[in-house]
Amino acid sequence: MNFTIATIPGDGIGPEIIEQAILVLNQIGKKYGLSFSFIKLLAGGCAIDKTGEPLPPETMEKCQNSDSVLLGAVGGLRWDHLGVQQRPEKALLRLRKELNLFANIRPAVLYGALKDASPLRKDIAAAGIDMCIVRELTGGIYFGPRGRKQRNGGEEAYDTEIYRSEEIERISKIAFEISMKRSKKVTSVDKANILESSRLWRSVVTEVAVSYPEIRLEHMYVDNAAMQIIRDPRQFDVILTTNMFGDILSDEASMITGSIGMLPSASLGLTRLGMYEPIHGSAPDIAGQDKANPIAIILSAAMMLRFSFELEKEANVIEKAVAQVLAQSYRTADIMSHRKRLVGTKEMGRLIVEAID
Ligand code: IPM
Ligand code: MG
Repeated sequence: MNFTIATIPGDGIGPEIIEQAILVLNQIGKKYGLSFSFIKLLAGGCAIDKTGEPLPPETMEKCQNSDSVLLGAVGGLRWDHLGVQQRPEKALLRLRKELNLFANIRPAVLYGALKDASPLRKDIAAAGIDMCIVRELTGGIYFGPRGRKQRNGGEEAYDTEIYRSEEIERISKIAFEISMKRSKKVTSVDKANILESSRLWRSVVTEVAVSYPEIRLEHMYVDNAAMQIIRDPRQFDVILTTNMFGDILSDEASMITGSIGMLPSASLGLTRLGMYEPIHGSAPDIAGQDKANPIAIILSAAMMLRFSFELEKEANVIEKAVAQVLAQSYRTADIMSHRKRLVGTKEMGRLIVEAID
């Protein structure tokens, strides 16, 4: 079997972490007789520097024609002065929207070996964390009408949170389907005490739930959810939420698992083509220093095998290799703790490759 993977290294630590994910995939290929072809594409700040735009047409076209997309990270201080339409992040938003990747799956798992790295109180971390955030990715305030204008001598700007019932329905179904394979509890997060769009969200989710009688559905306001995630993360299994709330809550969920450098994500649509990327950013402060944690992108590659290629066994092998290397006390700086063995990006990648073998 041959799979064509569009790779977008991007900016900051993107190139060095994606290199490790490619090594891991090649090792899986070698072991299981699969072949992966990688096409390297430009997007983000580096694309702005080389072509003047964050997402060159060639990148979009090649992504559309590949079996899936693996992305490092985009963005950096150097491009911060640019307007929203020219920023590196625009590449990500366009890829998500134009590839119709409306479902963003962000599992947050606290590895047994990393309990010391969690900032949560020891008794809370000891209970473990295993939740999955299902974030709507092509709607809401990220894509609603926006503007900025002069008014009464000052300036005024607005963004619009807007959801259609079909958008809520399809993401709800994804969350419920995922939940059926887990512990059958879904927490839908909104701000229905204030926002009209949240009131629609809540009623559509409730309606979709009727077709899943085995699932326990609970609704929670986002402010409360932000608090409950650190008070008692065990209460969550699948969290279903909007684009912006999912963005915020997934950073929070990642930190309690030890580091934002650990969490992978999958962005899925109606076809097999998905985009896989760590939830962290480009970390320009440590770029090029062999310090970044490659685990989030390596776990993203595992999700690619599972969701786009239906290679469940091979995905499990990668996840087990990561757990094994952590159990052997190897740590990148972001998850380092007392008496563990500090390694760089390349060495962490090499150890995971070795553990697969
Ligand atoms: C994420 C990121 C992106 C987002 C940015 C880089 C556009 O924060 O994937 O969580 O806001 O969705
Ligand atoms: Mg984010």
